[in-house]
Amino acid sequence: MLRTPRRDNLNRIVILNPKGGCGKSTLVTNIAACYAVRGATPAIMDFDPQGSAMAWLGRRPGDRPGIHGIDAHKRSIHATRSWQLRVPEDTDTLLVDSAAGISHDDLRELTRDSSSILVPVLPSMMDTHAASRIIADLLLVAKVNRNEQKLAVIANRTRKNTKSLAKLMRFLDSLGIPIIAVLRDSQNFVYAAEHGIGVHEMQPSRVRKDVEQIERIVTWLDGWQQRRQRGLEITGMRKSSISAAASAR
Ligand SMILES: Nc1ncnc2c1ncn2[C@@H]1O[C@H](COP(=O)(O)OP(=O)(O)OP(=O)(O)O)[C@@H](O)[C@H]1O
Ligand SMILES: [Mg+2]
Repeated sequence: MLRTPRRDNLNRIVILNPKGGCGKSTLVTNIAACYAVRGATPAIMDFDPQGSAMAWLGRRPGDRPGIHGIDAHKRSIHATRSWQLRVPEDTDTLLVDSAAGISHDDLRELTRDSSSILVPVLPSMMDTHAASRIIADLLLVAKVNRNEQKLAVIANRTRKNTKSLAKLMRFLDSLGIPIIAVLRDSQNFVYAAEHGIGVHEMQPSRVRKDVEQIERIVTWLDGWQQRRQRGLEITGMRKSSISAAASAR
């Protein structure tokens, strides 16, 4: 089971796309580093058997702000599952990294109780097709309520505005799902991954554009409580207009 603990004040961010190599772990690590640099107390929960995010944490230099790691893929016979998946009390932001090729059941479990869901997409024809499928699965299988506005897409490794990216943008637009950032294809992300840091922790003049985009993501993530509140209001308004229409009949 992929469920993670509930806590009202925990910003629980799930990054997923069953397509391999689209940038899930890159996003998880860079967002976590951004929060850590800002003085927050983030944790990463890694469900991927490859353990890329855990390995990144292992490479993290000791003088950098700390990020707690939870190796959710590993199972222990010596501890209960909930003990293994426990999130420290002072954690305010939990980033959940997921594996490629997850099942429908896992998709439901992972997204339940999430405050935000990020889907990184590479703007190639095949990847945008796969992205349309995962968005459809999130809405129809995992029953993510669009009113809650917790779902967003990040275009990753873009070189230019391709036809397939434009098509994906139209599709998402028709569903009211935002593309909140466009990350360029940059060696800065590769360097950061190799050194256990985020682009926020690199020479500012070198990473300005990359930092700008990660900050756009974090700004959107920071609005999770307002988005949730707005979503509840929209759902409430819809319900009351339906019942008003029913009683007017
Ligand atoms: N914007 C980018 N620019 C350059 N390289 C990138 C970028 N995003 C990701 N990469 C590189 O692409 C590779 C795959 O990225 P990453 O591991 O984040 O994908 P993933 O979705 O987590 O993959 P998996 O499904 O295997 O877990 C990595 O080597 C990473 O450094
Ligand atoms: Mg990964």
